[in-house]
Amino acid sequence: MDKPKLTIDEMAVFCKRKGFVYPSAEIYGGIAGFYDFGHLGVELKNNIKKEWWKTFVQQRDDVVGIDGSIITNPMIWKASGHVAGFTDVLVDCQKCNSRFRADTLIEDKLKIPTAGMTMEGLSAEIKEHKIKCPKCSGNLGDVKKFNLMFTTSIGPVQGSAAYLRPETAQLIFADFRLVQENARLKLPFGIAQIGKAFRNEISPREFLFRMREFEQMEIEYFVHPEKQDECPFIEDVIDYELNVLSAEMQKNKKNMEKLHAYWLASMHKWFVELGASPEHFRIRQHVKDELSHYALDTWDLEYEFPFGWKELQGLSNRTDFDLKQHMEHSKTDLSLFDEETKKKIIPHVICEPSQGVERAFLVFMFDAYNYDKSRENVVLKLHPKLSPIKIGVFPLVSNKADVVKKARGVYDELKQHWACTFDLSGSIGRRYARADETGIYATVTIDFDTLEDDSVTIRSRDTMEQIRVKISELKDVLSKFMEGEKLGKMGKGVG
Ligand code: GAP
Repeated sequence: MDKPKLTIDEMAVFCKRKGFVYPSAEIYGGIAGFYDFGHLGVELKNNIKKEWWKTFVQQRDDVVGIDGSIITNPMIWKASGHVAGFTDVLVDCQKCNSRFRADTLIEDKLKIPTAGMTMEGLSAEIKEHKIKCPKCSGNLGDVKKFNLMFTTSIGPVQGSAAYLRPETAQLIFADFRLVQENARLKLPFGIAQIGKAFRNEISPREFLFRMREFEQMEIEYFVHPEKQDECPFIEDVIDYELNVLSAEMQKNKKNMEKLHAYWLASMHKWFVELGASPEHFRIRQHVKDELSHYALDTWDLEYEFPFGWKELQGLSNRTDFDLKQHMEHSKTDLSLFDEETKKKIIPHVICEPSQGVERAFLVFMFDAYNYDKSRENVVLKLHPKLSPIKIGVFPLVSNKADVVKKARGVYDELKQHWACTFDLSGSIGRRYARADETGIYATVTIDFDTLEDDSVTIRSRDTMEQIRVKISELKDVLSKFMEGEKLGKMGKGVG
């Protein structure tokens, strides 16, 4: 299996150098766990979210979306169990007071998995292996729990504490009744949301992998409690192959529900259809002690990051835990009336596909990154739907006003349809290299012949193939090229 070609630190350097991602407010020294997206990063991130929303909301009959608030009634987080249980394991240095996440510290030092280990187990590992503070080599104390929610206060009144949401999911449960009624949803159905989430991670690390402010793309998929084994869409993925590591293989025996399998395959397919390499993914079931407080069963879609196989997306069976909790705490009936049995039922979330936008960003960047030895530059082979800039328009020479003017006209027309850039600085070779490095899918060059015959050269980022087409056909040819048609079939080859 191909290893990713860069380390995570090298990817961070590349992202900064090319305008994808910067440490937040770097002029003040940055701030751990927070990043700003640059002029290319914001486009890539928006394209990822747009493709996800299109596939899982707009193109489906059974899923609708919402956009809930980041700060909400704090009762939500009591009901959901986050106030009591949304914790990570922390260990303090007794000498310099630095704080570390106990499980990742042990994983780094001992190279063993810690999933499912208790606090006592983690403390015992630290003592037995005499693990010291990575900063000052001081002794470490006992492992404790640390709540990951950021707190804030609302309005001028002291004491009105609130939380920044640590997951987007809860607003879907809180708004469940309104959304179901107004969108006239019938089981099984999903409610989706894309938005910011905040977690006061003890050790933010690995660039965009573990941040304190990030975005999630989540679906809560609700089913009839007595029809949990039914999946109307299983035929769509029945022949789809996935690399699965089940809890049975790891520890105990459990089966995957059909709907869970369906969503895992659909999410994997989404990544692959947008250009990610299928062999960099696997599916791993959580062992019992690793499950979140709300989950009956969880399967992670994992990706082989340069620092190992890690969770890319979590798909949990949340049962009726959340709706029941909100019914109890809000004293609101969130049950549905079942026409068949004439009884009230509380739907189950058989599957909650929950994807971090920035982890998806990393996957697409790692799988797109190629160093081309013959070109002596990086070629960022992002899928055209994801490329931050689709087309670069280049006048062959920058000192001939009529060539530049003609090129500007082409650029003005194309930018009505796609994200484009106009570049006239440096040699044409240098401009092609710059375009390759930032993932520009096609470039259009305007030269002296254009002034005579109104034709331009289109160059493919991935193959360097070039064809000559009339300006009148340019939009049509570029559209087809971005939809996957071969460039060579659509115009006269060049050189
Ligand atoms: N609603 C369920 C939930 O939030 P989770 O496994 O805690 O589940 C889901 O998070 C996804 O959100 C993860 O698989 C990951 O892609 C992303 N994510 C979680 N914590 C993150 C962090 N600190 N930084 C970046 N992405 C994160």
